[in-house]
Amino acid sequence: MVKRFDKKIVLVTGAASGIGRATALAFAAEGAQLVLCDVDVAAVGETTAMARELGAPAEFIRCDVARASDCEAMVARAVDAFGGLDVAFNNAGINIAAAPIGDVEEMEWQRILATNLSGVFYCMKYEIAVMKRGGGGAIINTASVGGLIGTAGITAYCATKHGVVGLTRSAALDYVKHGIRINAVCPGGTRTPMLMEWCKDPEVERTAAADTPLGRFADPGEIARTVLFLASEDASFMVGHALVVDGGLTAR
Ligand code: NAI
Repeated sequence: MVKRFDKKIVLVTGAASGIGRATALAFAAEGAQLVLCDVDVAAVGETTAMARELGAPAEFIRCDVARASDCEAMVARAVDAFGGLDVAFNNAGINIAAAPIGDVEEMEWQRILATNLSGVFYCMKYEIAVMKRGGGGAIINTASVGGLIGTAGITAYCATKHGVVGLTRSAALDYVKHGIRINAVCPGGTRTPMLMEWCKDPEVERTAAADTPLGRFADPGEIARTVLFLASEDASFMVGHALVVDGGLTAR
């Protein structure tokens, strides 16, 4: 049986951990050829080995998405290795220490903007150029429920994720005529190293999980399955959409 992403060329940023790793492996299981990127070379190398074990041709490259030249080289790697680019999952992201805006250092503000927002801009800029030449593609950006609602204490994070939603919607309109579908995924709390760092105190974790109507955090695989849906032909009429996967958090 032909797999859903048979021989599709798929790029994933932040592929060393959490949602990025789970999504890379889900694409691998569905027949994709992968270019995996992260600043953590050792861990993205592990993800690459895991993808190869699933039978996927897979390459990795160190890429700091906050640097335009790294993003350009990352996309060039996909073209060199596999001949083009069909799907890009722009997922790399960070959080900074929780604080009200008056207590956020300027350097921290610049750091989170550079990774979470400029990073998505640089990735899309170079991915779109290749996809235009190839006649189309699908791009999925990782935003967050924090891209749709405000949350006290994580102002800078929410600002970057609102920016990702804005970039997604506007770029989707710019490139829909080129056959490039651009959407975002907006996860709620997802059990990854990023969230677990924030939930070091088990009481914080219990309260945060209980605050989700479903009563728990997502497994990274649940976000991965949504990303694969957005990348697939099943989502052929979805353009510029910010798809919430949050166990009911924003339904209230
Ligand atoms: P994670 O910390 O497990 O994985 C993030 C990956 O991004 C890491 O491998 C890290 O090395 C990489 N990364 C960080 N900065 C980078 C840079 N400048 N260039 C390239 N790679 C970089 O975190 P998780 O949870 O898997 O996060 C993935 C995305 O999901 C992020 O954009 C995050 O904001 C978003 N998200 C996560 C939620 C959660 O509850 N875990 C909820 C909503 C959104």
